Amino acid sequence: MEMSGKVGWGVIGACGIAKRRTIPEGIVPAANARLVAVTDVNSKGAEEVAAQFGARNCPDIQSLLRMKEVQAVYIATPNNLHKEHVAAAARRGKHILCEKPLGLTTREIQRMIATCRKKNVLFGTGFMMRFNVYHQKLREMIRDGSLGVPVMARGQMTCWYPPMEGAWRQVQALGGGGSLVDMGAHVVDVLEMMFGRTKSVMAKMANRVQTYQVEETAILLLEFESGVPGIVDVSFGIPDEASEFVLEVYGSKGAVKGKYSMAQGPGGEMRSCILGGMKGYDAQQNVQTKSGYQPWELPTRNTYQAEIEAFSEAILQGKPAPVPAEDGLWNHAVMEAAYKSARTGKAVAPKLA
Ligand SMILES: NC(=O)c1ccc[n+]([C@@H]2O[C@H](COP(=O)([O-])OP(=O)(O)OC[C@H]3O[C@@H](n4cnc5c(N)ncnc54)[C@H](O)[C@@H]3O)[C@@H](O)[C@H]2O)c1
Repeated sequence: MEMSGKVGWGVIGACGIAKRRTIPEGIVPAANARLVAVTDVNSKGAEEVAAQFGARNCPDIQSLLRMKEVQAVYIATPNNLHKEHVAAAARRGKHILCEKPLGLTTREIQRMIATCRKKNVLFGTGFMMRFNVYHQKLREMIRDGSLGVPVMARGQMTCWYPPMEGAWRQVQALGGGGSLVDMGAHVVDVLEMMFGRTKSVMAKMANRVQTYQVEETAILLLEFESGVPGIVDVSFGIPDEASEFVLEVYGSKGAVKGKYSMAQGPGGEMRSCILGGMKGYDAQQNVQTKSGYQPWELPTRNTYQAEIEAFSEAILQGKPAPVPAEDGLWNHAVMEAAYKSARTGKAVAPKLA
């Protein structure tokens, strides 16, 4: 450990989301972290990132992992490489925060977890949306009964993602799936924060405009442990301008509706309509004149910074990873259940081998 009490971080795959968000918004400003080194097969790009943030550019992964000052690594490479990169880091005794999905299959992720346990290193999943203050507030409101009996929920992420030469997300063997594993994984995780683990899932998938081999659009009908039914809908075929990343939670005492919270920015927009108690039946159902949604005004917190600070804190305190790899494993079991449902047309209960 450094004298300063800051965890030294190395970044594997520095030129994508790492450069856009996790380094500048997470590792650099985190109170208990320090960026030590980066590496990327795009060596010119890595050189630029290293220069910009005052880190060493390592020519390859092994030279980064040999650095004693690197205590933790953030892995943000394409999904098919996570397995190899997690194993390499674990063998060198580094703590690991890996982007989602942790691997291409639950079996692969189970082996990665076993390796990390054997090497006694922390292994966490990059579900940074857990740290969004609106999501945390919403979970609190569900737990303390402010929404009454939770009735139903919906989460949506969409964007425009056309076929592109060399895009690993559009190739099944590299991404492990399309919009569902890419965006739906986050949405399922956020809804599970509120309602518990998924008991069963039914899924429909389609490619309406994008022609690649992975799914462009997926709609999931879920039942959570708590009995709450939920919908998750994701698509790579909707213009960015028309995408609002909707989150809606309904209960017997009211509802919370939000936009943009399940995104890379720190906050979002949330509003709620909460009644004082359980409502009596109103035969007129005059909803138009009764709408009472109030916008939330909560101080927001950058989710990447919160994620890095929480993981660094766990290392410094000798505690478990704040979003453990076991949660990433479970999430992937839900993804696999959804793909099986889309193939068979039946509801599927997620399970681990
Ligand atoms: N949580 C989030 O907000 C979020 C957002 C985007 C992506 N992601 C996840 O992050 C991961 C990366 O996604 P991305 O959008 O940044 O992809 P990307 O393709 O933009 O970036 C990946 C980087 O890894 C590098 N790379 C490829 N092979 C490598 C190797 N063998 N060794 C070292 N570097 C290598 C590439 O050159 C590239 O710079 C994915 O798992 C994705 O699901 C998470």
